[in-house]
Amino acid sequence: MKMLVLLGSPRKGGNSDTLSRLVGKSFEEGGGTVDYTYLNTLAIRPCQGCGGCEKTGACVVKDEMGPVFEAVDQADRILLASPVYFYGLSAQSKIFGDRMQALWARKYLLKKRYRQGEGRKGYLLSTAATVGPKIFDCSILTARYIFDAVDVEYGGEFLVKGVDERKAVAGHQEEMDRAIQFGQDIIAGRV
Ligand SMILES: Cc1cc2nc3c(=O)[nH]c(=O)nc-3n(C[C@H](O)[C@H](O)[C@H](O)COP(=O)(O)O)c2cc1C
Repeated sequence: MKMLVLLGSPRKGGNSDTLSRLVGKSFEEGGGTVDYTYLNTLAIRPCQGCGGCEKTGACVVKDEMGPVFEAVDQADRILLASPVYFYGLSAQSKIFGDRMQALWARKYLLKKRYRQGEGRKGYLLSTAATVGPKIFDCSILTARYIFDAVDVEYGGEFLVKGVDERKAVAGHQEEMDRAIQFGQDIIAGRV
Protein backbone atom coordinates (compact mmCIF):
# COMPACT_ATOMS: atom_id res chain seq x y z
CA MET A 1 0.00 0.00 0.00
CA LYS A 2 1.36 3.40 -1.04
CA MET A 3 0.96 6.52 1.07
CA LEU A 4 1.63 10.01 -0.23
CA VAL A 5 2.49 12.51 2.50
CA LEU A 6 2.05 16.12 1.41
CA LEU A 7 3.89 18.41 3.81
CA GLY A 8 2.32 21.84 3.82
CA SER A 9 4.53 23.60 6.33
CA PRO A 10 7.54 25.65 5.24
CA ARG A 11 9.28 24.46 8.43
CA LYS A 12 11.19 21.28 7.68
CA GLY A 13 11.58 19.36 10.90
CA GLY A 14 8.72 21.31 12.46
CA ASN A 15 5.72 19.97 14.32
CA SER A 16 3.60 18.70 11.43
CA ASP A 17 6.70 17.31 9.69
CA THR A 18 7.84 15.47 12.84
CA LEU A 19 4.42 13.94 13.41
CA SER A 20 4.01 13.02 9.72
CA ARG A 21 7.36 11.22 9.76
CA LEU A 22 6.20 9.16 12.74
CA VAL A 23 2.93 8.30 10.99
CA GLY A 24 4.89 7.37 7.86
CA LYS A 25 7.46 5.30 9.75
CA SER A 26 4.88 3.12 11.44
CA PHE A 27 2.97 2.82 8.15
CA GLU A 28 6.19 1.53 6.56
CA GLU A 29 6.85 -0.82 9.46
CA GLY A 30 3.42 -2.26 8.77
CA GLY A 31 4.47 -3.07 5.19
CA GLY A 32 3.51 0.10 3.30
CA THR A 33 5.62 2.50 1.25
CA VAL A 34 5.70 6.26 1.76
CA ASP A 35 6.51 9.15 -0.54
CA TYR A 36 7.08 12.55 1.11
CA THR A 37 6.54 15.76 -0.85
CA TYR A 38 7.39 19.16 0.63
CA LEU A 39 4.92 21.49 -1.06
CA ASN A 40 6.97 24.55 -0.06
CA THR A 41 9.89 23.41 -2.22
CA LEU A 42 7.80 23.17 -5.38
CA ALA A 43 7.32 25.94 -7.90
CA ILE A 44 3.55 25.74 -8.01
CA ARG A 45 1.12 28.43 -9.02
CA PRO A 46 -2.27 28.93 -7.47
CA CYS A 47 -5.28 27.79 -9.50
CA GLN A 48 -5.95 30.37 -12.22
CA GLY A 49 -9.69 29.65 -12.35
CA CYS A 50 -9.34 29.44 -16.13
CA GLY A 51 -11.68 26.49 -16.59
CA GLY A 52 -9.04 24.79 -18.70
CA CYS A 53 -9.58 21.56 -16.81
CA GLU A 54 -13.30 21.42 -17.46
CA LYS A 55 -13.08 19.58 -20.78
CA THR A 56 -10.31 17.14 -19.90
CA GLY A 57 -10.11 16.84 -16.12
CA ALA A 58 -6.45 17.79 -16.38
CA CYS A 59 -4.84 21.03 -15.26
CA VAL A 60 -3.48 23.22 -18.06
CA VAL A 61 -0.99 25.03 -15.82
CA LYS A 62 2.35 23.39 -16.52
CA ASP A 63 4.52 23.55 -13.44
CA GLU A 64 5.79 21.29 -10.67
CA MET A 65 2.28 20.14 -9.82
CA GLY A 66 2.51 17.64 -12.70
CA PRO A 67 4.24 14.91 -10.66
CA VAL A 68 1.99 15.71 -7.69
CA PHE A 69 -1.13 15.00 -9.76
CA GLU A 70 0.42 11.66 -10.76
CA ALA A 71 1.38 10.82 -7.18
CA VAL A 72 -2.12 11.68 -5.94
CA ASP A 73 -3.69 9.33 -8.48
CA GLN A 74 -1.25 6.53 -7.69
CA ALA A 75 -1.57 6.76 -3.91
CA ASP A 76 -3.75 4.43 -1.88
CA ARG A 77 -3.55 6.73 1.14
CA ILE A 78 -2.90 10.49 1.19
CA LEU A 79 -1.88 12.41 4.29
CA LEU A 80 -2.16 16.19 3.99
CA ALA A 81 -0.07 17.70 6.78
CA SER A 82 -0.61 21.38 7.43
CA PRO A 83 -0.10 23.75 10.32
CA VAL A 84 -3.01 26.03 11.14
CA TYR A 85 -2.34 29.41 9.58
CA PHE A 86 -4.98 32.02 10.40
CA TYR A 87 -7.55 29.36 11.32
CA GLY A 88 -7.11 27.41 8.10
CA LEU A 89 -4.64 25.46 5.99
CA SER A 90 -1.24 26.95 5.17
CA ALA A 91 -1.05 28.69 1.79
CA GLN A 92 1.14 25.87 0.46
CA SER A 93 -1.54 23.32 1.37
CA LYS A 94 -4.32 25.50 0.02
CA ILE A 95 -2.59 25.94 -3.33
CA PHE A 96 -2.34 22.15 -3.55
CA GLY A 97 -6.03 21.88 -2.69
CA ASP A 98 -7.16 24.52 -5.16
CA ARG A 99 -5.21 22.82 -7.95
CA MET A 100 -7.24 19.68 -7.23
CA GLN A 101 -10.02 21.57 -9.03
CA ALA A 102 -8.89 19.59 -12.10
CA LEU A 103 -9.83 16.36 -10.32
CA TRP A 104 -13.08 17.96 -9.15
CA ALA A 105 -13.83 18.63 -12.84
CA ARG A 106 -12.93 15.04 -13.73
CA LYS A 107 -15.33 13.72 -11.11
CA TYR A 108 -18.23 16.15 -11.20
CA LEU A 109 -18.22 17.66 -14.70
CA LEU A 110 -16.89 14.76 -16.75
CA LYS A 111 -18.46 12.16 -14.41
CA LYS A 112 -15.28 10.11 -14.50
CA ARG A 113 -14.86 8.28 -11.23
CA TYR A 114 -11.31 7.23 -10.40
CA ARG A 115 -10.22 3.87 -8.92
CA GLN A 116 -13.65 3.29 -7.44
CA GLY A 117 -14.06 0.36 -5.08
CA GLU A 118 -10.39 0.38 -4.09
CA GLY A 119 -11.02 1.97 -0.70
CA ARG A 120 -8.57 4.84 -1.19
CA LYS A 121 -8.47 7.28 1.71
CA GLY A 122 -7.21 10.72 2.66
CA TYR A 123 -6.39 12.17 6.08
CA LEU A 124 -5.57 15.56 7.56
CA LEU A 125 -2.73 16.00 10.03
CA SER A 126 -2.59 19.42 11.61
CA THR A 127 -0.91 21.35 14.42
CA ALA A 128 -1.73 24.69 16.02
CA ALA A 129 -0.28 26.99 18.63
CA THR A 130 -3.52 27.74 20.41
CA VAL A 131 -6.05 25.42 22.01
CA GLY A 132 -9.52 26.79 21.20
CA PRO A 133 -12.28 24.29 20.46
CA LYS A 134 -12.74 25.49 16.86
CA ILE A 135 -9.07 25.81 15.93
CA PHE A 136 -9.15 22.96 13.38
CA ASP A 137 -12.72 23.40 12.08
CA CYS A 138 -11.84 25.32 8.93
CA SER A 139 -8.92 23.05 8.01
CA ILE A 140 -11.03 19.94 8.47
CA LEU A 141 -13.82 21.27 6.26
CA THR A 142 -11.34 22.27 3.55
CA ALA A 143 -9.48 18.95 3.71
CA ARG A 144 -12.72 16.99 3.50
CA TYR A 145 -13.69 18.91 0.39
CA ILE A 146 -10.25 18.47 -1.20
CA PHE A 147 -10.36 14.71 -0.65
CA ASP A 148 -13.86 14.53 -2.08
CA ALA A 149 -12.56 16.18 -5.26
CA VAL A 150 -9.60 13.79 -5.36
CA ASP A 151 -12.18 10.98 -5.19
CA VAL A 152 -10.87 9.36 -2.03
CA GLU A 153 -12.84 8.74 1.13
CA TYR A 154 -12.05 11.02 4.07
CA GLY A 155 -10.46 8.79 6.70
CA GLY A 156 -10.24 11.33 9.51
CA GLU A 157 -7.77 13.62 11.12
CA PHE A 158 -4.80 13.66 13.46
CA LEU A 159 -4.65 16.94 15.38
CA VAL A 160 -2.32 18.41 17.97
CA LYS A 161 -2.99 21.81 19.53
CA GLY A 162 -0.86 23.91 21.87
CA VAL A 163 2.39 23.46 19.95
CA ASP A 164 4.09 26.52 18.53
CA GLU A 165 7.89 26.46 18.49
CA ARG A 166 9.46 24.39 15.72
CA LYS A 167 10.36 21.46 18.00
CA ALA A 168 7.51 21.91 20.49
CA VAL A 169 5.89 18.56 19.73
CA ALA A 170 9.08 16.75 20.72
CA GLY A 171 8.19 17.68 24.29
CA HIS A 172 4.91 15.80 24.04
CA GLN A 173 5.81 12.12 23.94
CA GLU A 174 2.14 11.14 24.23
CA GLU A 175 1.33 12.96 20.97
CA MET A 176 4.27 11.32 19.23
CA ASP A 177 3.08 7.92 20.45
CA ARG A 178 -0.38 8.78 19.18
CA ALA A 179 1.13 9.60 15.74
CA ILE A 180 2.84 6.19 15.64
CA GLN A 181 -0.51 4.61 16.51
CA PHE A 182 -2.21 6.62 13.75
CA GLY A 183 0.21 5.18 11.16
CA GLN A 184 -0.47 1.70 12.49
CA ASP A 185 -4.21 2.33 12.29
CA ILE A 186 -3.93 3.50 8.68
CA ILE A 187 -1.96 0.47 7.47
CA ALA A 188 -4.23 -1.88 9.42
CA GLY A 189 -7.33 -0.31 7.88
CA ARG A 190 -8.74 0.80 11.24
CA VAL A 191 -9.09 4.40 10.01
C1 LIG B 1 1.58 32.63 9.38
C2 LIG B 1 1.19 31.85 10.62
C3 LIG B 1 -0.12 31.82 11.01
C4 LIG B 1 -0.51 31.09 12.13
N1 LIG B 1 -1.82 31.09 12.49
C5 LIG B 1 -2.21 30.40 13.58
C6 LIG B 1 -3.57 30.41 13.99
O1 LIG B 1 -4.45 31.02 13.41
N2 LIG B 1 -3.90 29.69 15.11
C7 LIG B 1 -2.96 28.97 15.82
O2 LIG B 1 -3.32 28.35 16.82
N3 LIG B 1 -1.67 28.94 15.43
C8 LIG B 1 -1.28 29.62 14.33
N4 LIG B 1 0.04 29.58 13.93
C9 LIG B 1 1.00 28.72 14.66
C10 LIG B 1 1.22 27.37 13.98
O3 LIG B 1 -0.01 26.75 13.64
C11 LIG B 1 1.97 26.42 14.93
O4 LIG B 1 3.21 26.99 15.28
C12 LIG B 1 2.20 25.06 14.31
O5 LIG B 1 2.55 24.12 15.28
C13 LIG B 1 3.27 25.10 13.24
O6 LIG B 1 3.45 23.83 12.67
P1 LIG B 1 4.81 23.46 11.88
O7 LIG B 1 5.89 23.42 12.93
O8 LIG B 1 4.52 22.14 11.28
O9 LIG B 1 5.02 24.55 10.88
C14 LIG B 1 0.46 30.35 12.85
C15 LIG B 1 1.80 30.38 12.45
C16 LIG B 1 2.18 31.13 11.35
C17 LIG B 1 3.62 31.16 10.94
